[in-house]
Amino acid sequence: MRSRRILIGISGGIAAYKIPVLVRLLVKSGFEVKCILTPNASEFVSPLVLSTLSLNPVESNLISDDKRWINHVELAEWCDLFLIAPLTANTLAKMANGICDNLLLSTYFSMKGKVMVSPAMDLDMYAHPTVIRNIELIKNDGVLVLPAEFGELASGLLGYGRMMEPEKILEEVQKEFEKKNLKLKGKKVLITAGPTYENIDPVRFIGNHSSGKMGYALTKSFLSSGCEVILISGPTSLSIEHPKLTRINVISAEEMMKSVKKYWKKQSIGVFAAAVSDYRPEITEIQKIKKNKNNRDLKLVKNPDILEWAGLEKDNQLLVGFALETENGIEHASAKLKNKNLDYVVLNSTEDTGAGFGHDTNKVTILDKKMAKIELSLKSKYEIADEIVEIIAQSF
Ligand code: CTP
Repeated sequence: MRSRRILIGISGGIAAYKIPVLVRLLVKSGFEVKCILTPNASEFVSPLVLSTLSLNPVESNLISDDKRWINHVELAEWCDLFLIAPLTANTLAKMANGICDNLLLSTYFSMKGKVMVSPAMDLDMYAHPTVIRNIELIKNDGVLVLPAEFGELASGLLGYGRMMEPEKILEEVQKEFEKKNLKLKGKKVLITAGPTYENIDPVRFIGNHSSGKMGYALTKSFLSSGCEVILISGPTSLSIEHPKLTRINVISAEEMMKSVKKYWKKQSIGVFAAAVSDYRPEITEIQKIKKNKNNRDLKLVKNPDILEWAGLEKDNQLLVGFALETENGIEHASAKLKNKNLDYVVLNSTEDTGAGFGHDTNKVTILDKKMAKIELSLKSKYEIADEIVEIIAQSF
């Protein structure tokens, strides 16, 4: 049976008094629960009550009262989901900006699996532009943010800012566990991501604006579904580490092809999100090209189509490609689906604002072999990645 371990991180807000009820609901629903608190949170909820209900010790400092170092990495690895509730503006700001001054935050920054948060603030705080900005930042880092609700607040004011009720949080947690499909656990996945650079001379190259964000978001999502991932990445500034991840850095399309050829046969799933340069210079000059001519011709030759090769070699494997189109999106994307022998094609259109290269958000349409269309609204690349993984899981 699938493990159902939840770590609850409680930060110092009035709504913390409701967490014992949530712990009880989760334990009754078959979850294994551990709680950690920020130092302030124990003013609002008793660690003794939490440890009694969760059946586990409760910690709030990196060094425990009996002078033991609390291993935040182990806590992060232990859980399938880290739920931070209530999330205060202070803890939110620290999460968004890399400040790591307590056990809860150290655990957050060690997390490789899913993180869900349930904010609770007074209405003016919840509507403050800084808080709105910080919520967007953590969403783009892949955190699932439950909306705060409308109602009476601790200040006596009426408005948005109440923490979601424990019963509803339980529903959201259960949804998340149903989503992360068991069928994908242990599957081997190959992902290509980022741009490729095709060298002209030792200092210049042909490249494109791909940031690699979509491929890295997919990597994260497959890893949190229990897959083993080989990420073949073109040059990006992104970083990702996980015990079940092998990352192979490449520069050019030919190098990417070589790595894909090495690994593809043993994979069950391939998701090709890289923006591969279709052409490369016929000759890469050994010395830097000097500006001693008024005109220069650069002769380009075609690069191998890596996805097309994987489609030809496909044998009971599930293959997903991306299509970035500037016009007639559906038409071009469905042609790619057929020509490259794909099971799904994910269409990005440059016509949509907030979608495509460099953005944290994306708007895609997913087509399958029967030409069924799933149109997703503008969402963070992490949310899109989760939906793509969910659709793939349904094919097994
Ligand atoms: N792709 C690839 N190798 C290439 C070119 C593209 O693996 N040399 C993959 C991309 O990773 C993506 C898909 O093919 O999943 C679509 O790439 P795109 O450049 O949009 O399409 P092309 O097939 O190159 O067609 P065109 O440039 O004519 O749109």
